[in-house]
Amino acid sequence: VFRVSTLAARAADRRGFSEADTETVEWAGLLHHHAIDFADAPGASKLLADLGLPGVPELDPLPERVHEVLRVYRGMARTADPFIAQTAILEESANLFDEQIENLPYEDATADEAIRELLLTGIVDPSFSEAVESFRVLSRQDLIECAKRLPVFPKAAMQALRMVRNPRSGLREIERAVASDSVLAGEMVQLANSGMFGTWHPVNSLAVALSRVGTEAAGKLIAAAAVRRSFISGNLHELWLHSAETADQAVFVAAEAGGLDLGEAYLAGLVHDVGRLAFQVSPAAVELRRWEEAGFPATYAEFLVSGTDHATIGAEILRIWRFPEELVQAVEHHHRPETTSSRLASVLYAAEDPAESLPSCARDHTASKRLDIEEIPRARSAS
Ligand SMILES: [Fe+2]
Ligand SMILES: [Fe+2]
Repeated sequence: VFRVSTLAARAADRRGFSEADTETVEWAGLLHHHAIDFADAPGASKLLADLGLPGVPELDPLPERVHEVLRVYRGMARTADPFIAQTAILEESANLFDEQIENLPYEDATADEAIRELLLTGIVDPSFSEAVESFRVLSRQDLIECAKRLPVFPKAAMQALRMVRNPRSGLREIERAVASDSVLAGEMVQLANSGMFGTWHPVNSLAVALSRVGTEAAGKLIAAAAVRRSFISGNLHELWLHSAETADQAVFVAAEAGGLDLGEAYLAGLVHDVGRLAFQVSPAAVELRRWEEAGFPATYAEFLVSGTDHATIGAEILRIWRFPEELVQAVEHHHRPETTSSRLASVLYAAEDPAESLPSCARDHTASKRLDIEEIPRARSAS
């Protein structure tokens, strides 16, 4: 209801509705799922205010115009008033739009394809379609340009990670590979001291950092140091913490599922949301936050402002960084595990914060089947 009401109200705003009229659209949107008697019930507007609609005065009873919109919307009445008719159409269109997005886990199409198809059918009002077009302020190309300004994943890190996977490489060789990139080496020393790797005594050189964490965790330290640079550059500390947390959870899920490289799962977890960096440093960052604050999950909000999402853009970034295709695939499908056979994508889906996309039982089911586990072990619950 929140989403439908916000979509309809923002479309109304784009169409030049007055503030009072936009508010009517918002109220009708909030009530569109309920029976008409509910809207008529005393206290309905108090409920709207309690639902947190900003600036809603406690009006009792609800303005007659809201009732009229709802009656027309439900086909219980006709109207000669163009405002009422238009508003009912906007609500209907917003509802269809939102339903189409909700149905994506059952469709074999990207959000963009599904929405284009919906708009082509003509059941969505053209004025709503135009408004949706106007929400789109960024192109995929713009996002890739933003991504190109992010610090690149260091070559030395990629080389050192390959060595970590090779049982014949020793810590000294790994150290030499890392030392060729002094920024990376410095970052590793700093991270080793951050408490993230459980080292108690201060570490002041790369050699000590590596020997302190040991070969097994060396890969994690290298990966974390390499990725953190991109996050810190955009002042995106929260996203960094989320990535580190998801990386740990990805290792947990991958170990549970079996047959997966845990080092790879960790790296995948660290970079799974790298596409969000591009969005957050883009000119659409403020607009994106507005949608998210109105209750739209990240992937939905990203779709509204750009027609794509952070998973798709993240994969593009990893291609630019020359990541192995296996990791690229996993990141690309981490919110749509049903569209790939990659098990690593399912690991990321399971490790991911569910609040980043609309909840879906179908996707949970696919991921747990791919991973051969009973149930997705969620570290966080959807908000
Ligand atoms: Fe994500
Ligand atoms: Fe995430």
